[in-house]
Amino acid sequence: MNKSYWLLALFVVAMACTSTKESKNQEDYGTPNEAASASEMSGPDIIAQGEALVKASDCKTCHHTVNKIIGPSHTDVAKKYEFTEANVKYLAEKIIKGGSGVWGEVVMTTHPDLSQADAEKMARYVLSLDGEKEH
Ligand code: HEC
Repeated sequence: MNKSYWLLALFVVAMACTSTKESKNQEDYGTPNEAASASEMSGPDIIAQGEALVKASDCKTCHHTVNKIIGPSHTDVAKKYEFTEANVKYLAEKIIKGGSGVWGEVVMTTHPDLSQADAEKMARYVLSLDGEKEH
């Protein structure tokens, strides 16, 4: 009786040790997984970089996040276009080359100093403003 009680106690202690170790392992693996998803092309990091680029550029002279000023609000742009790779490329090119005719007669100025990569980050940020997320 006494002996089996001790065996049971030992077993419980052993189980407790194993489960502690397991949950610690999960924590250890959690961080790299998060880092991997953040580095995907549409990850929060890219969107945040795009937002910073838009804020640092002259976009806000003509675009407000939710109100139409000279150009359409970036939220309206996000509602018009689906968040696809093709649209990211199209909008990035439009940001660099400027132009008119989609939203009206007013012309968007060119941004020849922007790299295609930066313009795509801006486009991803704009497309992320689909009205369902807060920004
Ligand atoms: C001089 C004013 C002006 C500035 C500065 C400007 N835009 Fe625009 N933008 C416009 C106008 C006007 C339109 C609508 C063009 C059209 O109807 O084709 C537009 C359209 C857009 C569109 C939608 C394009 C389309 O074809 O639907 C995006 C995206 C955009 N702008 C992003 C930006 C970003 C990012 C910046 C900063 C790098 C920027 N704009 C700077 C005036 C401006």
